[in-house]
Amino acid sequence: MTGRIGGGEVAIITGANGGIGLTLAERLLTIHTDLHLCLACRNRQRAQTARDVLLLSHPKAQISIVTLDTSDIQSVLSAVRDIKKLFSRIDYLYLNAGKMSVKHLNFSNLFKSILKMNTLFLFNTGHGLLVHSDQHTSEGLMSTFATNAFGHFVLVKELEDILGGTKPSQVIWTSSVAGVRSAFNPRDIQAKNGKDPYGSTKCVIDTTSMVLNERLNKGNIYSHTTCPGLVLTNMTNGILASWIWWLILPFMYIFRLVLDHLSIDTYKGSEPLVWLSQQEPKSLKTNVRYHSCTDVWGNTSVQPFQVNFSLEESLKVYEEMESLYKGFKEKYKSLEQ
Ligand SMILES: NC(=O)c1ccc[n+]([C@@H]2O[C@H](COP(=O)([O-])OP(=O)(O)OC[C@H]3O[C@@H](n4cnc5c(N)ncnc54)[C@H](OP(=O)(O)O)[C@@H]3O)[C@@H](O)[C@H]2O)c1
Repeated sequence: MTGRIGGGEVAIITGANGGIGLTLAERLLTIHTDLHLCLACRNRQRAQTARDVLLLSHPKAQISIVTLDTSDIQSVLSAVRDIKKLFSRIDYLYLNAGKMSVKHLNFSNLFKSILKMNTLFLFNTGHGLLVHSDQHTSEGLMSTFATNAFGHFVLVKELEDILGGTKPSQVIWTSSVAGVRSAFNPRDIQAKNGKDPYGSTKCVIDTTSMVLNERLNKGNIYSHTTCPGLVLTNMTNGILASWIWWLILPFMYIFRLVLDHLSIDTYKGSEPLVWLSQQEPKSLKTNVRYHSCTDVWGNTSVQPFQVNFSLEESLKVYEEMESLYKGFKEKYKSLEQ
């Protein structure tokens, strides 16, 4: 890595080597000319391939790679050091990397929901439809929590000094409609005993983002959450084999009559993430999640949906995140010197 990059705007995307992250990268390069893009990925080889793909459509683009495993706090702290060697400020910080470990579908809940006539909720949120698995990371965190929420939180805290200032910076999270209240226990933010660790992490994201605004807006840093809707990516291939998705695809198009979150492709899914980068951040609401909504004709729009947590509840989650963060800072203090 050479000296710091000045000039145009800078966007960092975590999990940029595939799925929604890669399409987002491509769209940002198209919209924001003179953008310096940083792909923050855990696998350097996959990031390099993504960079090569992006350079095919944008041969003059400035694209850097930083190795970052969001589930590993030591890796996050090391990535922060690399990012700060490269950039003196960040305009857009996309916290998009994510995982969902699904064991199988919960057929018993599916049949119960058909009897209770609330199948739409099940299909809309996935909550109760999937049986999840989770494990501990080598640092003792729950893996889904660390990957989706906490690693990203550490990234924001550590990059705070190169965000905002005289110009606004946007922190943009990829949350999900799966972040429903019933997936979340505020006394167990890592979902150690929860049945839906994925949905729980998205609640952590929504609540944390709300408090980040309380704390950071004065420093010209704005945080917003998005939901891409259901998008067929590697993540959904972990729920059903890709050939099954292709079989049910025609029905998904028809189901857009009653469900507006069936984005299906990464372009439609990335819409709110791209849209947010084109807004004046001060004018945006902080207690909503910006969803990608697609109608039966395939028209996509961005709609705000109220987050179902109060600021008071969110503050408690935030305080726990902060206390965990301080613990890790203390643990790895010597590494930073
Ligand atoms: N697909 C959907 O229907 C849907 C719906 C709602 C929300 N979302 C959210 O959208 C985001 C992107 O998901 P996607 O659908 O595009 O899935 P995807 O294709 O599986 O992409 C996930 C990305 O996250 C990266 N990642 C996973 N664990 C990581 C870690 N520990 N450190 C760094 N990067 C890591 C992956 O890298 P590797 O290639 O190395 O695995 C990949 O680049 C996620 O936050 C997801 O929760 C997706």
